[in-house]
Amino acid sequence: MFGAGNKILGLDIGSSNIKWTVYSEAKNMPTIYNWGLEETPPGAVRNGRILEKQSLLDKLREVIVNNRIKVAKASITLACPEMVIRTVDVPKLKQKEIQNVVKYESEQFIPGNSDEYIIDYKILGEIKENQNDLLKVLVVAVPSGIIQNYIELLENLSINPRAIDFFSNSTCRFLNNFLRDVKDKNYVLIDVGASNTIITIAEQGVPVLTRLVQIGSEEIARTIANSFNLTLEDGEKYMKTHGRVFFDNEQPEDKFLWEMMTSIMPTVELLLKNIFQSVEFYKSKTQKSIETVLMTGGGSYLKHIDKYFAQQLSMNILPLKGIFPVKMKNNIPEDIINLFCNVLGLAFREEE
Ligand SMILES: Nc1ncnc2c1ncn2[C@@H]1O[C@H](COP(=O)(O)OP(=O)(O)OP(=O)(O)O)[C@@H](O)[C@H]1O
Ligand SMILES: [Mg+2]
Repeated sequence: MFGAGNKILGLDIGSSNIKWTVYSEAKNMPTIYNWGLEETPPGAVRNGRILEKQSLLDKLREVIVNNRIKVAKASITLACPEMVIRTVDVPKLKQKEIQNVVKYESEQFIPGNSDEYIIDYKILGEIKENQNDLLKVLVVAVPSGIIQNYIELLENLSINPRAIDFFSNSTCRFLNNFLRDVKDKNYVLIDVGASNTIITIAEQGVPVLTRLVQIGSEEIARTIANSFNLTLEDGEKYMKTHGRVFFDNEQPEDKFLWEMMTSIMPTVELLLKNIFQSVEFYKSKTQKSIETVLMTGGGSYLKHIDKYFAQQLSMNILPLKGIFPVKMKNNIPEDIINLFCNVLGLAFREEE
């Protein structure tokens, strides 16, 4: 049904793993022809920034050749600490005027010179306040230098860019389709990656607030390695096989478990503190509540982390189990789907 011309390469290049798909876009049920997970060359990407272009290019060329990927275009989803998402209320104006007002409003929350940012916006709807007609607008701002590096990366691969998207946008698009039958898509999404944790609050499926904390599961692997006198590599293996989160009422007497608890919990508590702050900020600004938590990223596989966050935040955890809203030739196994939500989100066409 689709020629090679319709196929798009989707990329989520994390500091630890490259998640890729070959897909054709659709609004509700895109087709995934192929997918894969590859290790990112060490040190090539950190906090959304490409630090070593050559090794990353070599790796991507290898992925393309080995998997016989033939695409006309590619889309990339990224996240960086400088990325800002906010909703602002602006007067109901003409399209061109809105752009200027959005730019002016963005200057209030962009850390630094707004001319160095690419600012994108989407009108969410109309509201009335004190007899005035206002527009609720979602604004996303990302440093243009970061985006430029990804565009250059694709140019070097001789692939045309289809879209550069942002973590919260793409992941929420996937999750909203997964949650198709859930009426109120209000949730806090926590993506625990290797080097970053991204906290996103979605209101009716729209990511209205996002925050990136520069701590991830790599930090937990490091503290385990220190406590148990292991190499970093073995610390990571230990975390995956023996690691778990401990609940408040646990006081393990076993020395091994005690060491595990004292090496893992400070990082988990630090993440929880950041999530709590974001949720409280959202609540105080909007007077609205959030009752559901969703988790993605490799760090979400740390045993009990999801239950612990849900318990501490007094929320329900929604596991990513069930039917996924994509057609796949060879299915992504359910037990690794948390790694793929972000890159899969690229395949859902934005509503016009
Ligand atoms: N069972 C597990 N328990 C804890 N951590 C795990 C587990 N399985 C995988 N991880 C960790 O998940 C991380 C990889 O996840 P992911 O692919 O989401 O990261 P990334 O996207 O490359 O990183 P980032 O988004 O921070 O740049 C690795 O650090 C790995 O150790
Ligand atoms: Mg990631």
